[in-house]
Amino acid sequence: MSNIFPKDFLWGAATSSYQTEGNNFNSDWWEWEQRGKTKDKSGIACDYWNRYKEDHKLLEELGCNSFRLSLEWSRIEPEEGKFSDEAIGHYREILQDLKNRNIKAQVTFWHWTSPIWFQKKYGFHKKSSVDIFVRYVEKITKELGDSIDIFLIINEPMVPLGMGYLVGLFPPGKKNPLSFWQALKNISKAYVESYKLIHSLKPDAMVGMTHLYNWYDSGGYNIIGGILYKISKWFRIASFNRRIKGYQDFFGLNYYRLGKINLKKWKSKKINFFIEEDEDNVMGWIAYPEGMYEVIKEAHNDYKIPIYITENGFPSDAGLDDYSRIEIIRNNLKCIKKAIDEGINVVGYNHWSLMDNYEWLYGFEPKFGLVEIDFKTLERKPRKSFYEYQTIIKNSK
Ligand code: BGC
Repeated sequence: MSNIFPKDFLWGAATSSYQTEGNNFNSDWWEWEQRGKTKDKSGIACDYWNRYKEDHKLLEELGCNSFRLSLEWSRIEPEEGKFSDEAIGHYREILQDLKNRNIKAQVTFWHWTSPIWFQKKYGFHKKSSVDIFVRYVEKITKELGDSIDIFLIINEPMVPLGMGYLVGLFPPGKKNPLSFWQALKNISKAYVESYKLIHSLKPDAMVGMTHLYNWYDSGGYNIIGGILYKISKWFRIASFNRRIKGYQDFFGLNYYRLGKINLKKWKSKKINFFIEEDEDNVMGWIAYPEGMYEVIKEAHNDYKIPIYITENGFPSDAGLDDYSRIEIIRNNLKCIKKAIDEGINVVGYNHWSLMDNYEWLYGFEPKFGLVEIDFKTLERKPRKSFYEYQTIIKNSK
């Protein structure tokens, strides 16, 4: 197997606005933090808002030809219907800086966070949320669309919907299956309307979204495990995809880990009450790069559109010598190459994440970065995995 990837393969890294920019105080997540619902408060986070040039320079050093970032809706529309020219102007500068470095911009419009006013007055469980979201999409497509290469309307909606409407651990903190179902219906509608709108304004645009697509293993409970697998796959993947059929130019796939079914955990009352955990991992995650190949194949067979690995990475508590991440990058990319060699169209790969950042409920403890951040001084230091990814990119072209 040669290690040469297709000529136009997109080599990237991914981040999101709330997790890196800092000071997003008009966001529902900020309010959630003030209510003591998270381990840490995001505060200034990585200060990407002000240090983006330094971070883009690191991308350049890596040899990336693309970068995934997101826009913070609460900065762009801090009050209902009032758009901030200042914030839009600042995002224009960020996107221009990427262009100057020949780095394609993959832009997510909604990576889990909403303006406080939206969450208070609307929320995705209300039908009226659809028009409000599409208005925001229209505004930014008109203002910033020329600087966007790949449009990712929403990120992994099933995570914030499940956590926000069933488990109650994300905003809006509900445990209400009916609201969950309504939110699922509305957010998928908002997605489809936004997809159509972006294409009406920019017919050649590459438009899609991302799906969290981990690989599950029956854990030896063959019959029950198989049934659970089918139910969970329907819930995680199909329940959303069937609503947006025909409205994705590619399948944005986020792969992280193995979900090994363990029914003995049933009583643990943890979020993943039937999934085994690795006690040695900071988030309990089990690494399983082989699953990358399986999910690519499955998504390819089920959806028959190009696949984009929009996120892949692993949490650790290592410092600069993050050998486990090196293995993970190598092996995941081997699996991607295997799928490409078998004829599957995988258009790109993003490592999550360029740098350590604010990991939602877990705060700053889990480290996902190719670049370490000292959250006291905000100093950036490339890890061993940074140099490994740099070498892989160089040798794969
Ligand atoms: C999310 C990121 C998150 C990462 C690691 C992804 O599912 O899109 O926001 O930081 O997983 O947990």
